[in-house]
Amino acid sequence: MAIAGMSGRYALAAVVSVLGAIGSGHAQAQGNLVLYCAVQEEWCRAMVNAFERKTGIKVAMTRKSSGEFYAQVKAESANPRGDIWWGGTGDPHMQAAEEGLTQPYRSPNMAGLHDWAVRQWQQSKERAVGVYAGALGFGFNTKLLAAKNLPEPKCWADLLNPKLKDEVQVADPNSSGTSYTMLATMVQLMGEDAAFDYLKKLHRNINQYTKSGAAPAKATSTGETLVGITFLHDMVTFIVGKAPIKTVAPCEGTGYEIGSMSIIKGARNLENAKKWYDWALTTEAQSIGAAAKAFQVPSHREAKPPDEAPDFRTIKFIQYDFAKYGSSAERRRLLAKWDKEVKSLPK
Ligand code: G6P
Repeated sequence: MAIAGMSGRYALAAVVSVLGAIGSGHAQAQGNLVLYCAVQEEWCRAMVNAFERKTGIKVAMTRKSSGEFYAQVKAESANPRGDIWWGGTGDPHMQAAEEGLTQPYRSPNMAGLHDWAVRQWQQSKERAVGVYAGALGFGFNTKLLAAKNLPEPKCWADLLNPKLKDEVQVADPNSSGTSYTMLATMVQLMGEDAAFDYLKKLHRNINQYTKSGAAPAKATSTGETLVGITFLHDMVTFIVGKAPIKTVAPCEGTGYEIGSMSIIKGARNLENAKKWYDWALTTEAQSIGAAAKAFQVPSHREAKPPDEAPDFRTIKFIQYDFAKYGSSAERRRLLAKWDKEVKSLPK
């Protein structure tokens, strides 16, 4: 075939690329999906690959932290770019729901879910559903602890030990849902005044407030920090890779997350967003995490929690009030207070 103005080689390349497009017509016919993914990159990718293979829908995925996606969805609300926001802690999903940034959806696959996942959906007026749960805690690098000859920390209170100065890492609660879960946990566990007193004292021992919630787990594994405050399963990801880390479910009790999923209001690819939503609630989709070293507890009753998942029966949990701490006014107030009273403190 001769194409005017093209040499033979380029003409052939053009024909091949046209045929290629026809060959992948299935994927094109199924359209696209813009996914905002707030779990670890490896799990995001595994989910995207499985969904694309199953449906032929082409997924454009961005990975960010929970608070960052909340801010992005809000900033884009006049002209939404994302279709579905999958994963990340529930509180920013709840705030987005209350602010009308996401939209109600009743999936045919709700029946298989644990009560805590359905309650999240009811409390968000059918806008955010639970996809997994994770327990907050901390981990420490066993080699560094031995080298410093320190006792094993077992409680939140132990992290205030002056010998841990600059040895504790946690994320910034503005960007990170993990860290906001910690802030809200402390308020619920101790009462607000004692919680802020605790966080101010802890500030002296913090070496860095990271952007992403799981970053301190990696830093604990490499010995960049002695202690990291994260969800326990994020530490387990490194423990299965043989990192010298021990996890701690704090003795006073701790909070947890209901990792959530929401459809963005005004989603351009609404039908495909619903397809992702329905699929993400199946046992098939919920078994992908463990293979990607993500050890959360799945929200489907018949999806087996990974063997490596922290055993929730051994953890003392607070009654985390997701409606209150995911409310727009409370989340905004607590974050502003943390900025003003904790982050700005000199060390
Ligand atoms: C990690 C955890 C998730 C959690 C997420 C929150 O990916 O494995 O369970 O939902 O962090 O991320 P963020 O960066 O917002 O703290």
